Amino acid sequence: MSVLYRSGAPRAAAWARFFKDNAPDIDFRTWPDAGELEEIEYLVSWAAPAAFIASLPNLKVLFSSGAGIDHIDLSAVPDHVQIVRMVEPGIINGMVEYVTLSVLALHRDFFDYVAMQPSGAWNPLEVPPASSRTVGVMGLGVLGQAVLQRLSTFGFRLSGWNRSPRNIAGVACHAGAHTLDQFLGRCDILICLLPLTDATKGILNARLFAALPRGASVINVGRGGHLDQAALLAALDSGHLSRAIVDVTDPEPLPPDHRFWTHPRVFVTPHVASMTQPDTAAPIMLANLRSHMRGDGLRDVVDRKRGY
Ligand code: GLV
Repeated sequence: MSVLYRSGAPRAAAWARFFKDNAPDIDFRTWPDAGELEEIEYLVSWAAPAAFIASLPNLKVLFSSGAGIDHIDLSAVPDHVQIVRMVEPGIINGMVEYVTLSVLALHRDFFDYVAMQPSGAWNPLEVPPASSRTVGVMGLGVLGQAVLQRLSTFGFRLSGWNRSPRNIAGVACHAGAHTLDQFLGRCDILICLLPLTDATKGILNARLFAALPRGASVINVGRGGHLDQAALLAALDSGHLSRAIVDVTDPEPLPPDHRFWTHPRVFVTPHVASMTQPDTAAPIMLANLRSHMRGDGLRDVVDRKRGY
C-alpha cells in the first residue's frame, strides 16, 4: 500500500517530512518518484491528468489537495474511487484573512485612497459604521461560515445564500434559487464562495448584478467560471457596481492584456486567497487515511452527483 503526492511541488517536501516523522509505516511517495503504479492506493493531487489516474489500477481514494474539486475530471475517476475535499484550518484561515481584508478595504474606501495618492489629493470620505453595511456570502459551507463568523466581530449586517437551508446565528440565511433576488437586494458587498458546479457556473451574471443595490461591490473567491466577465465590466462601467475584487479568473493565468488588469475599479490577485498549508493539512489527511485503512470510513467525501 502506497500513497502518492502529486501536487504543488514547493510543498511536496513538507508533506513528505510530515509522513516520515509521523507515519514511518506508510510508504509516502512524491511525484515524479511514483515507483510501481499498481502499489498506489491513495493519491493526493490537485489536477492529476485523466490518463495518469487511469494508470493507477488499485487507487482507492483521491484526496484533492485543495478545497475545490471542480478541476478534477470526475469521469476519469472510476466510480469505486472515493474523492475527498481538503478541509483544513490553514485553508480556512487563509480565506478568512483574504475576505476580511477585502471587505474592510472596500468598507473603508482604501481603493479610493490608493487612486487619490498619485495626485496628492487629501480628500477625506465619510466613514459609515460597519452596522450600516450588509455583507452577503453566497455558499455557506465551511469557508463561508468561517468568513461570516469573523465578519460578525466588526458589526456588519450579515446575510447568506445557500442551495440547502442553513441556520447561522446572526446571519439572515436564504436557501434556494427562489430566494436569490431577495438576498441580493440587500447586499452592499457580495462574496462568492460557492463551489463551481453545473448549477453555479456563470451565476455572477448580468441578471444577478442588476439585482444588487446600486453601488454594491463584488468579491469573487469561488472560481473564475462563476463570473460572466463582460457582464461585470458592463455593470462597473454603467456605475451600477462600485468595485470588484477577483482572486479567481477564467482562464488562469489571466492574460496580461485582459481588461481586468487595467480597469480602475477591478482589483485582481492571482488565485492566492487561500492555500492548503502542509502543517495543518497533512495531519488531517493522515487521520482520514488511517480511518479508511481501519475500515472506519472517510470524512469530507465528495458527493459526485452534487459536484462538491
Ligand atoms: C483553491 O482554490 C482550492 O480549491 O483550495
